[in-house]
Amino acid sequence: MARFLMITATSGSNRDLADVFATTATGKGHDAGVVDLAEIDLPMFTMARSKDPQSAPDISDLLSKMAEADAWIVIAPEYNGSMPPTLNNVVAWMSTAMAWQDFRTLCTGKPVGLATHSGGGGAHVIMAMRQQFSFIGADVIGRTCMTSRDKEANPETIESMIDNLAR
Ligand SMILES: Cc1cc2nc3c(=O)[nH]c(=O)nc-3n(C[C@H](O)[C@H](O)[C@H](O)COP(=O)(O)O)c2cc1C
Repeated sequence: MARFLMITATSGSNRDLADVFATTATGKGHDAGVVDLAEIDLPMFTMARSKDPQSAPDISDLLSKMAEADAWIVIAPEYNGSMPPTLNNVVAWMSTAMAWQDFRTLCTGKPVGLATHSGGGGAHVIMAMRQQFSFIGADVIGRTCMTSRDKEANPETIESMIDNLAR
């Protein structure tokens, strides 16, 4: 049994996709939680806010969930050929909420899967997320789930990603 954390950047169709990943994982006997970054609604990261204890958000709950998970599946729509600000923003807050070494420990070798529900194909957001999560040390798997209004999520892809990540 593996513990999955589905991290969705938005609360619409990507949240729905995160729920499908979670249901598939639990159906296979795994544990699965979902965090919705739009719901958490963090302030925009700036150096000034990060240095001011009154302004820096408390993300300890999110960090604990991420640390406890054996694998993350990051689900985000494409925005202007890249990732939505909620996702990039949370990574900036994570990287400054703890000592750099602890951040590296949290991310290094973490199995990560990527998925999107986008207006078009979503290839750009997948590339952007792959670059970001590989950079912070995660093991991003090759297979991805790309969906849109005209292209439903392939259940076989979702199952295969869960199986691959639950190693
Ligand atoms: C600011 C903004 C920029 C967008 N840019 C793109 C884009 O570059 N490529 C694309 O395929 N879809 C783009 N879209 C469409 C979203 O990816 C699409 O509507 C997605 O399904 C929304 O996900 P949600 O329902 O989870 O919010 C954009 C949407 C917004 C709001």
